[in-house]
Amino acid sequence: MGGREHWTGRFGFIMATAGSAVGLGNVWKFPYEAGQNGGGAFLLLYLFFIALFGLSLVIAELLLGRTTQRNPVGAFRALGGGAWPLVGGVGVLAGFVILSFYIVVAGWTLAYLGFMISGDLGADPAVLGERFGAFVGSPLAPIGWAALFMLLSVAVVIGGVKGGIEKASRILMPALFVLLLLLVLRSISLPGAEAGLAYYLQPDWSRVTMETVSSAIGQAFFSLSLGMGALITYGSYLQRDANIAGSATIIVGLDTLVALLAGLMILPAVFAFGFDPSAGPGLTFITLPAVFAQMPAGQWFGIAFFALLAVAALTSAISLLETVVCYFTDETRLGRKGATAVVAAIAFAMGVPASLSLGVWSGITVPGTSLGIFDFLDFTASNLMLPLGGLLTAVFVGWRWSQPAAEALRGAGMPAALLPVWIAVLRYIAPLGIAVILFGALR
Ligand code: PFF
Repeated sequence: MGGREHWTGRFGFIMATAGSAVGLGNVWKFPYEAGQNGGGAFLLLYLFFIALFGLSLVIAELLLGRTTQRNPVGAFRALGGGAWPLVGGVGVLAGFVILSFYIVVAGWTLAYLGFMISGDLGADPAVLGERFGAFVGSPLAPIGWAALFMLLSVAVVIGGVKGGIEKASRILMPALFVLLLLLVLRSISLPGAEAGLAYYLQPDWSRVTMETVSSAIGQAFFSLSLGMGALITYGSYLQRDANIAGSATIIVGLDTLVALLAGLMILPAVFAFGFDPSAGPGLTFITLPAVFAQMPAGQWFGIAFFALLAVAALTSAISLLETVVCYFTDETRLGRKGATAVVAAIAFAMGVPASLSLGVWSGITVPGTSLGIFDFLDFTASNLMLPLGGLLTAVFVGWRWSQPAAEALRGAGMPAALLPVWIAVLRYIAPLGIAVILFGALR
C-alpha cells in the first residue's frame, strides 16, 4: 500500500486535527450545555475530564494510526486480530451516523448565514423563536442547506489529504480563531456583560447532578472527536517518526480554548440582553440574532458569527467523512472519488429523515424508545457508540498493546516519566470514567 498520502508537516497536521475537534460541539453545543448545567461548574467538570483521560485517549488513537498506517478497522486488525476490528467497525459506523445529523445542523448555520446577509430576521425574541422552529421544521429548506453543506465537504475530501483537507484547514482554522477573538471582545465589552462572566466563571455546584457529570464526559468525547477512529485515521497520515504527544497536547489545548472562548462569546451577550442562558439548542440560533439586532454593527458581527460556525462545522464534517472514506479506500477497491460519493450519498439519505423528524415527522418515535429520529441518531452515536469505542480503545491499548505502545511513544515526544501515568489512565481511569457515562446514558 505504498500510495498512502501524508500530511506535509506538523502545522498542517495540527490544523487539520484541531479542525476535526473544533466544531459545532464547541461553538454551538458547549455554550448551551454550560448554560443549562450551572455555568462554571460544568466548565470545571469538562476541563477535569479532558485532563483526566481526554488527552491520553487522543494520544492513544493517534498512535494506533501512526503505527499501522491504516483505517480504524485495519488498525485493530493489524495489532489485535480476533474480534478487535469490530471496535474500528463500530467507530466507522458511528462516523456515518454522526455525519448524517451533523450536516443537518451545519446546514442551519449556512441558512442563518444567508438570513444574516439579507438582514431580515428582525429583533423580537418571540418571533425569532417561531422562525427558528418554522425553519427547522419545514420539509424542504433545511434539507437543501444540508445538501449544500455535504457538497462542500465532498469537494474538500475528494481533494485528498494534502490538497484537500490540510489545505482547507490551514486557511479555515486561523480564520476561525480571528473571528472568534473579535466576537469575544465585542461580547465582553457589552454593557451588562459582567453578569454573564460571573455566571460562566463562578461555579454553582448546587446545579450539578449525575446527569451533569455524564453530559460533561459525553461533551469531552464529542468535542475531541474521540471514540470513533477519526483520530486513528488522521494519525494514519502521519509519517512514522512524527511527534505525537506534543502535537496532541496542542490539539487538545486548542479544542479546549475554543470551547472556553465560545462560552465567553455567547454567555456575556446572552446576559447583557437579558435572555435565559438555559434556552437549550436554540440558544445560538434564537438568542444571538436578537443580540446582533441590538448591537452596533450587529449585522456584520452576525455574519461573522455564522460564518465562523459554518467553518468550524466544515472542518469537522470533513473528518467524519474522511474516516468512513478511508475505511472504504483501504479495505475495498473503491477509489477516493467513488468512495466519497457513495458515503456522502448514503449519509445524506439518512440525514433526510433526521431533518424531517424535527418537523413533519415530529410525531414519529423510533420503536422501543421515546426519541424522534434526529434525537435517536444523536443519542445512539454520541452517548453510546463514542463512549463504547473510547472504552474499548483504552482497554485495547492499556492492556493488550501497552508494551509496544509505550516503546513507540518514547520516540514520539512523550517524556519517559509520564509513560506509566499514561498506561495507568488507559488501564483504569478511562474505562472507569467512561463506564460512568454509559451507565448514566442507559439509566
Ligand atoms: N469534534 C466535533 C465537534 O466538536 O463538533 C464533532 C466530531 C467530529 C465528533 C469528528 C467525532 C468525530 F469523529
